[in-house]
Order: sequence, then C-alpha cells, then structure tokens
Amino acid sequence: MSSRLPFLARVIAIDGPAGTGKSTTAREVARRLGWRYVDSGAFYRVAALLALRLALDLADEADRARLRQALERAAIEQEIVGGTPRIRLGGEDVSVEIRTPAVTSIVSRVADDPALREIVNAGLRVQVGEGTAVIDGRDIGTVVFPDAFLKVFLDASLEERARRRVAEAEPARAADPVALASYAQSLAERDRRDRERSVAPLRAAEDALHIDTSGLDFDSQVARVVRAAQDRIGRT
Ligand code: CDP
Repeated sequence: MSSRLPFLARVIAIDGPAGTGKSTTAREVARRLGWRYVDSGAFYRVAALLALRLALDLADEADRARLRQALERAAIEQEIVGGTPRIRLGGEDVSVEIRTPAVTSIVSRVADDPALREIVNAGLRVQVGEGTAVIDGRDIGTVVFPDAFLKVFLDASLEERARRRVAEAEPARAADPVALASYAQSLAERDRRDRERSVAPLRAAEDALHIDTSGLDFDSQVARVVRAAQDRIGRT
C-alpha cells in the first residue's frame, strides 16, 4: 500500500515576501528539529544565473525554452557548510553569485514561467525525498507541498524589510535614506511580480500560521515556528 503513496515526507513550508527572515528562520528551525533545510528560491536564482550566463532574452520564447533545457540538465546541490547554506551548480559554488543585484533583478521574471516552475518543483521533491524538511519560498504551502505538516506565512512591513536587506547587504549604508528607498523600491517591484503572476502567486495558504515579524526578534520568530511544529508532532 505505502508504495502507492506519492510522498511520505514531512514538510514545514515557510512562505512570504522577501526580507521577512524566511530563510534564516527556516534554517534555524531545521537545525533545531534536526530536519533538512531546502531553499526553493535558490533554484530560481540558479535559473536566473543561467539566463545571464547564456545571455538569454526572457522576452523570447525560444530562449525561455533554452533556459528550461539548461535548468533540466543542471546539477544543483544544496548543503549547509559550517552553518552557512551552499549552492553548487555542476560542482561550482555559486552561493554568492546567485545573490548579486543582477540575478535579483531578473529572478521574478524567470520565475513566472509555469514550465520552468515544474522543473524546479521536481527538483525540490527530489531534495526532500521521503525525509523531513523545512522549505522556504513563495508557493511551498499552496502549490508544491499542499499537504505540508505545518505551513507558516511570514510577513513584515515594506520599510522593515528594506531596513533588514540594507543592513544585510550594505551595513555601512544601513541608515542612509537613499539606500533604504532604493531597496524598498526593488522589494516592492519583486513582491508585485510574485503576487500578481498567474501561476503559483505569492499568497498565504488558507491553513497557514501567519506571523508578522515587524516587531519580533529572530529568536521569538524561530521559537513560534518550533512551538507550532512541536505541538503538531505531539498530536501525531
Ligand atoms: O531571499 P529572497 O526572499 O530575496 O528571495 P528568494 O527566496 O531567494 O526568491 C527569489 C525569487 O524567486 C522570488 O522573488 C520569486 O520570484 C522566486 N521564487 C518563487 O517564485 N517561488 C518560490 N517558491 C521561491 C522563490
């Protein structure tokens, strides 16, 4: 009987817009539970990096098909090394390159292709296998793992998210209003694309636990998710 079940995995899905602390929270929750951490955004970022490296035109359908082909052939690996997530593409460490502004500026356009999303989703399911994992993204609780054992939707005000992103990427400009405004603008633009796309838009699952992280420190944020997970583990 069990061989007929498509999945035996136990997944915690953490979705939400950029700058809400999804990946750090997901990583720490995974560490505390001893579960695997999977970063779905990293797959879209690798796809965006491939588009840049191959000089593909996202407005051209033939180039979109080339990108899907390249992604399908790509060997993408994720692992945590010394507490830091590492992403490898064909053995090359691209962890830093996938976070550059050039990649960030096109990633939500790359992610609006339904056929490309299928390739990413298949990759995510392989990463999880039949194990236990905490996965962060935009559509994990709604589309990729709708049966996730716990779904969390993290949110925070745009100002707070911009402040966090500047502090992370350019600490020297953390109080610079020009930097804050420019990060806020690029976050807002990415949110808009992610929320408005027709396939797998960013939204909370109906049964998600909502956490507004604007006024929460990191430890409280992690503790709320871990507590919710433990409550559920206790009930199963
Ligand atoms: O870390 P950050 O929140 O900046 O973004 P990310 O998680 O690395 O995701 C980058 C982009 O990939 C998002 O803005 C989405 O366009 C796309 N993405 C997606 O469409 N679906 C996911 N499950 C994860 C990411």
